[in-house]
Amino acid sequence: MMAELRFTLPWRKLNLFSVLVFLIVIFPISESEEVSGFCSAGFGEGCSYSTKLLIKGGTVVNAHHQEIADVYVEDGIIVSVQPNINVGDDVKVIDATGKYVMPGGIDPHTHLETEFIVSETVDDFFSGQAGAVAGGTTTIINFALPINGSLTAGFEDFAAKAKKSCIDYGFHMAITKWDKEVAKEMEIMVKEKGINSFKFFLAYKGALMINDELLLRGMKKCKSLGALPMVHAENGDAIAEAQQTMIDLGITGPEGHALSRPAVLEGEATARAIRLAAFVNTPLYVVHVMSIDAMEEIAKARQAGQRVIGEPIAAGLVLDESGIFDPDFTIAAKNLMSPPIRKAGHDKALQHALSTGVLQLVGTDHCSFNSTQKALGIDDFRQVPNGVNGIEERMPLVWNTMVESGLITPSDYVRITSTECARIFNIYPRKGAILAGSDADIIVLNPNASFKISAATHHTKSDTNVFEGQKGKGKVEVTIAGGRVLWEGGELKVAPGTGRYIEMPPFSYLFNGIDKADAAYLSSLNAPVQRFKATA
Ligand code: URP
Ligand code: ZN
Ligand code: ZN
Repeated sequence: MMAELRFTLPWRKLNLFSVLVFLIVIFPISESEEVSGFCSAGFGEGCSYSTKLLIKGGTVVNAHHQEIADVYVEDGIIVSVQPNINVGDDVKVIDATGKYVMPGGIDPHTHLETEFIVSETVDDFFSGQAGAVAGGTTTIINFALPINGSLTAGFEDFAAKAKKSCIDYGFHMAITKWDKEVAKEMEIMVKEKGINSFKFFLAYKGALMINDELLLRGMKKCKSLGALPMVHAENGDAIAEAQQTMIDLGITGPEGHALSRPAVLEGEATARAIRLAAFVNTPLYVVHVMSIDAMEEIAKARQAGQRVIGEPIAAGLVLDESGIFDPDFTIAAKNLMSPPIRKAGHDKALQHALSTGVLQLVGTDHCSFNSTQKALGIDDFRQVPNGVNGIEERMPLVWNTMVESGLITPSDYVRITSTECARIFNIYPRKGAILAGSDADIIVLNPNASFKISAATHHTKSDTNVFEGQKGKGKVEVTIAGGRVLWEGGELKVAPGTGRYIEMPPFSYLFNGIDKADAAYLSSLNAPVQRFKATA
């Protein structure tokens, strides 16, 4: 019999019970201590989690195939996927008849507990992941930022903060300066710390932005390590100019942010990064693709055979720029992110690009701030912390927008929300699949159930939600992470410390054959030309 923690998240309601839970979260109990109804970690004695699960009668969906089958799980691993599995009384059975049983979502792009230029994001690793669980995401890859340029210090800082995780997580690392030490640390990150991707910001001048010389050096280093370079593609120099123009024109509100970051500057930086990646002959990952301009550069490059991955985000797929032009500052500011959410039309184009394989996977760029933090920029849009939520909303929104509308199949859905991310970051098939031997990260989605998004009911911490009022079909009714049922019947049963750090090995499939292309290039040079010695 499972004892359940009816978990009211402490940041939602301050009643006596939630204060107690909050204290437990802040001062985690030791493994020997037992608190009624609360499981601090793992499957140990006194812990309420069943080690054996049977998910029965659902349509099991993988990126390559779907079938009606049962899924049997033991000790956090999928043991068997086949019809009509019989089990004993010691197994918890979840009836999934008429529902889809799919790999838990993997969010490739989050910013939990991150000091981002003017403020720290409001969701920590626990609250953000609690939201993730309620929305059907079971693994995240968070961006770690260096501290004063030190990757090691940045990694240690994020590793410590992430200890309170309730789902599995990995890291990308940002590169914000260049010297021999950074190059050496990149090697350590890849060979010893399980990081296989590095992000380069072409925007945020004066803070995180790097120049083309650094980007080139970084790309070359990434290539040598089998790590994937990622770019935030906007032209930061042009944006700084345009921001000043807006201020000079007296445009100080959030709309000044959108107006100073037109799509052409996203297209330019995307094209530049793609061409430099072609020059280096390295794969490239473009984060938060928000515009047709950027998407078309990716399409062109892929058509020419270049390995470029494009990641749109939930907000870019379902919202348009009307939010940032709202007369209510709080609404406008909650819509402010970089690159900006674009005019209507870009959203549909990004959906179509995903459905046809021009873009490969969906992230969230979950970088949530509350309305008080956003109000830092009440007099100057440049001081509004950049970022929107999405960690909890991505899975239902993508289902409703893409599958319910008929644009893609359930298998495509699994591919763009989970499998492709696992492949790109080299953790497939441990993650991203419902296969014997894979981690038991599983969701049960009811295609006939409806959802409605609101800050009043979400499980993350912000007092606003950029998707406020959005409704649709496709509700995640059960979320299982590492074999634990963390979300069922509208109840969260999460505990800090149950999530594991997932090391990501270098040289994903994107690097296959790169050496052959390099060799072909070298032999095509017809140089150096052998010349006869000049005679006197
Ligand atoms: O506005 C955004 N995107 N905030 C998060 C940081 C980033 O650029 O990804
Ligand atoms: Zn970015
Ligand atoms: Zn981001």
